[in-house]
Amino acid sequence: MAIDQSVLLGERPSTVTPLVEIEDLRVFYRTVSGIGRAVDGVNLTMQRGEILGIAGESGCGKSTLANAMLRLTRPPGYINGGHVHFHPRNGDPIDLLTVDDGALRRLRWNNLAYIPQGSMNSLNPVMRISDQFVDAMQEHGYDGRAAQAKVPELLQMVNLAPYVARLYPHELSGGMKQRVIIAMAISLDPDLVIADEPTTALDVNVQRIIIQTLAELRDRLGMSIMIVSHDMAVHAELVDRVAVMYAGQIVEVRPVRQVFKEPLHPYTQGLIGAIPQVGGTRVRLEGIGGSAPNPTQWPEGCRFHPRCRFATAYCHAVHPELLPEPGKAADPQAPPALVACHLYHHAAEMGRTDGR
Ligand SMILES: Nc1ncnc2c1ncn2[C@@H]1O[C@H](COP(=O)(O)OP(=O)(O)O)[C@@H](O)[C@H]1O
Ligand code: SF4
Ligand SMILES: [Mg+2]
Repeated sequence: MAIDQSVLLGERPSTVTPLVEIEDLRVFYRTVSGIGRAVDGVNLTMQRGEILGIAGESGCGKSTLANAMLRLTRPPGYINGGHVHFHPRNGDPIDLLTVDDGALRRLRWNNLAYIPQGSMNSLNPVMRISDQFVDAMQEHGYDGRAAQAKVPELLQMVNLAPYVARLYPHELSGGMKQRVIIAMAISLDPDLVIADEPTTALDVNVQRIIIQTLAELRDRLGMSIMIVSHDMAVHAELVDRVAVMYAGQIVEVRPVRQVFKEPLHPYTQGLIGAIPQVGGTRVRLEGIGGSAPNPTQWPEGCRFHPRCRFATAYCHAVHPELLPEPGKAADPQAPPALVACHLYHHAAEMGRTDGR
């Protein structure tokens, strides 16, 4: 999808009330060729009320991260360490990776809703939409009659007419099915919705409608939304901050407007260079040379070095940490802006004098 740069001008105010803090999360897969370290030491804090994007090429670990946040990792995957602290509105933080199963079940959907990749195809083909809402809500303790009564209101929140409740999934377009799935996810008024590739496989106009729907929901209901997408244009249109993943790690996390104005990490620069610009008038499709590495054999030092045009011997040897963007005074009212690249923190070792 092409980027409409005008949307980047309307950045929303940020807050610094943490909602979810991911700490040194590691999620591995047992494979025939060894242990695949798909998520390998992710640290990331999501703020209450923000829309956070998780970006990066296919295979960089986005879905593995989203799954693990709600302890939905299944074999051959396993969580090898770390914490995911959820901060409820009232009460102490809860580590989602160690809380007991019953409590986790209550938190899922009630507080933390997850829309897996491709879930619009998981609607039951032989059940009317309203019955699917009622079933899902009853499973989480809602009274059947109250659930039934709430369906039109939920449909209206995603701009679907009440009659949709009486239809079967095959009577809906892809965009309508995706909006039904979003309406189900918000049915219990969660604090956070995690949506994995919510616009993938939809045509461009429908993508726009889904993005608009999600943005409206955040503005109306104040919920936080995590958008997982390989499509930088989706992040440009929707999110407040974007976290860019490469080879199982976060390499840059900053407000989206700044990322598009001046991407810091060479990988982010490549991702932005790899998408069509502004209404199709200036199309740059430079892409990123080389291919993503294999999670069973991450390169030593900076994992991006085999593909990076700035790489030096220092990058081959030393792994860059995710550190605050240099030259920016820390703003206590805003979440930190971070980048993991020696160009910014070890310019001298890189043999550079321009700080870049
Ligand atoms: N079930 C699995 N078994 C083995 N490896 C997997 C499995 N699922 C994902 N992976 C590997 O983990 C890495 C990250 O995958 P994924 O989280 O799906 O990436 P993304 O969502 O960014 O496309 C990829 O290299 C992928 O091949
Ligand atoms: S640390 Fe070196 S190889 Fe890695 S992104 Fe920065 S310049 Fe490129
Ligand atoms: Mg994925």
